[in-house]
Amino acid sequence: MNIIINHIRSFNRRRLTRRHLKKTLVGARLWRPKRIYRRYMLAQSYYRPQLKMIKSWAFKDTEYSNFYYDLKILNIEHMTHAISVITNLEHKIIARYIEEIRTDDWLKKLILKNLKSSDYPKDTKVEFARRIGWYAIARAIKPKVIVETGVHNGVGACVLTRALMKNSEEGILGEYFGTDIDESAGQLLTSPLSDYGKILYGDSIKSLGKLNYTIDLFINDSDHSETYEQQEYEIVNEKLSSNAIILGDNSHVTDKLSKFSLKTNRKFIFIPEKPKDHWYPGAGIGVSYIHPQN
Ligand SMILES: C[S@@+](CC[C@H](N)C(=O)[O-])C[C@H]1O[C@@H](n2cnc3c(N)ncnc32)[C@H](O)[C@@H]1O
Repeated sequence: MNIIINHIRSFNRRRLTRRHLKKTLVGARLWRPKRIYRRYMLAQSYYRPQLKMIKSWAFKDTEYSNFYYDLKILNIEHMTHAISVITNLEHKIIARYIEEIRTDDWLKKLILKNLKSSDYPKDTKVEFARRIGWYAIARAIKPKVIVETGVHNGVGACVLTRALMKNSEEGILGEYFGTDIDESAGQLLTSPLSDYGKILYGDSIKSLGKLNYTIDLFINDSDHSETYEQQEYEIVNEKLSSNAIILGDNSHVTDKLSKFSLKTNRKFIFIPEKPKDHWYPGAGIGVSYIHPQN
């Protein structure tokens, strides 16, 4: 067994060809190498495309975190159905909102322009990843107040205020509040999107405690520790409107939002995220909502 493992390690280290590994293993004249080789290659075949993407990403790209990517078409289709169930709106309405944000060249140009004049790495593509789902929900439920904890450079803030801008064109006004501990956060949120909201600088829990508004859409995306996430849900609980939706950006790693939903008689759905043309395995959107029949 050790002989085989050493061969595989040396295969990885020396970047030898698959044929070489196969030849070496078969040459060992053991009963199992062929089988192990096949199993090893089968498992690797699931990850090979991502490993290839990692190589080109490491050399060409400048992003370190909060990656930009679009979603796989099938993922978008599943997301559309899930949001249609959550909001009790027809699939075609949600599909229209999703298409609206994915093809929003005005927004992409604005973000790109701001990225170029900021100190943030100058990535050339702007895609919204799971924030596409945040946008569709904000368009669907027409919230009067959106709160997003954790703004970072402000891509989520731009997407959410853009939804408010579109809602206002349909006669429904809304306001956005972002929270961030970092005073340089939100560089991308400029006029005219900044007319639809503002950023509250300082610790999220403190900002939420002071916020004197009824919240219709709450997005948790600040300190990603389990305890902090839970504290955010608890502090906003009494500020939520009767049909408020909570989106958790930590639900792919913790059960805090699903447990909070059970405790407060809410429904919970997790919408997984499948990045297109990116090595990142994807996070997802935890959605906590009140069932229309409740
Ligand atoms: C993952 S980023 C947010 C990404 C953003 N929502 C988006 O869509 O691009 C997390 C942000 O949370 C902020 N943060 C971390 N701990 C915080 C805290 N205790 N209070 C407020 N903001 C915090 C960080 O400064 C960082 O900008």
